[in-house]
Amino acid sequence: MSNTPFPKGFLWGGALAANQAEGAYREGGKGLTTVDLLPTGQGRREMMKGKIDSLEPVEGLFYPSHEAIDFYHRYKEDIALFAEMGFKALRVSVSWARIFPNGDDPSPNEEGLKFYDDLFDELLKYGIQPVVTIAHFDVPVHLVKEYGSWRNRKLVEFFETYATTLFSRYKDKVKYWMTFNEINMLLHLPFVGAGLVFKQGENETQIKYQAAHHQLVASALAVKACHEIIPDAKIGCMLAAGMTYPYTCHPEDIYAAVEKDRESFFFIDVQSRGEYPGYAKRFFKDHNLKIEMEQGDEELLKNHTVDYIGFSYYASRATSTDPEVLKNMTSGNVFGSVANPFLQKSDWGWTIDPKGFRITANQLYDRYQKPLFVVENGLGAIDEVTADGEIHDDYRIEYLRKHIAEMGEAIEDGVEIIGYTSWGPIDIVSASTGEMKKRYGYIYVDKDNEGNGSLNRKKKKSFNWYKQVIESDGTKL
Ligand code: BG6
Repeated sequence: MSNTPFPKGFLWGGALAANQAEGAYREGGKGLTTVDLLPTGQGRREMMKGKIDSLEPVEGLFYPSHEAIDFYHRYKEDIALFAEMGFKALRVSVSWARIFPNGDDPSPNEEGLKFYDDLFDELLKYGIQPVVTIAHFDVPVHLVKEYGSWRNRKLVEFFETYATTLFSRYKDKVKYWMTFNEINMLLHLPFVGAGLVFKQGENETQIKYQAAHHQLVASALAVKACHEIIPDAKIGCMLAAGMTYPYTCHPEDIYAAVEKDRESFFFIDVQSRGEYPGYAKRFFKDHNLKIEMEQGDEELLKNHTVDYIGFSYYASRATSTDPEVLKNMTSGNVFGSVANPFLQKSDWGWTIDPKGFRITANQLYDRYQKPLFVVENGLGAIDEVTADGEIHDDYRIEYLRKHIAEMGEAIEDGVEIIGYTSWGPIDIVSASTGEMKKRYGYIYVDKDNEGNGSLNRKKKKSFNWYKQVIESDGTKL
């Protein structure tokens, strides 16, 4: 291949999550998961932050995860289309509640295990590597009711059993794993990231960091088990990345940006370097937080660090210490960010910054010196089927073209990147809003925000474009 910066065997593909694609929310013995309680529309955001009244679906509300795009029944058709684009990898997540419907069941649900066996077989049939996230924003609801979810140390044990069950069952089929999707989301959307529900008056910061410790220990135990059970597999962490820029070169702004990034790096510093960083200890002290650790935790974290750094990149962020500037906020992923006057935004206010992708990749590689895996990137946009029956998503092609080009630059900078799985290669339910209207796919799914539509699949213009990107190993953008 001529002059491509992308290394041989680069894993081009796409990424999705069980709760946003599968549907079939009570089929095959699956238990209820946290996402199954999130309706579209008003109130969703507060619920995602842990303000929840009912741990059962409420009559009359629309829950997008219940049917999603029915990937559970249609995955063969969808995978055939991914194969047509030449995918080398598909990132999926396993729904915890398909395997352990309650989370604390004495034995796994065979029907759930069988579903993923079939799914992985279907991928491997086309030479597509499954890249599997063990926990992507879903916790069995029973664990929330009975134990308070990740605030409780018991979750470590349940997660270890769950992860070990997956490694033993799929050891011959899955060689790329990730423990927690966007683990740093826990601090921003704690119900989504960790199934946390808060009572009035609780010290939420304390609970979040305690839950974080439990997830970090659980992640280290999963890394340990994965290395023991599948020695030739790689297991990574997963960060919602995007560098924070200081709004000005005032040292106060610079330091504010350092601190903002550290909120997220905290998790990866533990997962990749194996210990709590000094700045985190100081933060705990300054905020009077007491993290309960068990004997052996520190050693475990130290000895079982991740093999690679998985990350999502949608946007860079910006911060300031000037109250006037702070009035003009927008979003970088769901992370609040000062609006950057040099950059455009998506229809959902997410900053668009291709150069920031190169900067972020360099920043992560400089910090961790481990291979990176870009496991999410893409543009959520409104697509319309025009009179000619086609979907002309040139804006998506434009976004991806610029981002892939910057990824190539990062590789030329010396950053080791093993793959790129763009988010939602087929339209799926939006995690932040629950909408179908916020589409990322190369493949259109006929379904609207209210759940109407045939669920038929249709190639968009970007379908052939991405096919060509993969075919040419990133040289024809
Ligand atoms: C990431 C998540 O935060 O961004 C995905 O890992 C999510 O689950 C993706 O779908 C895009 O966000 P949204 O809200 O546009 O779906």
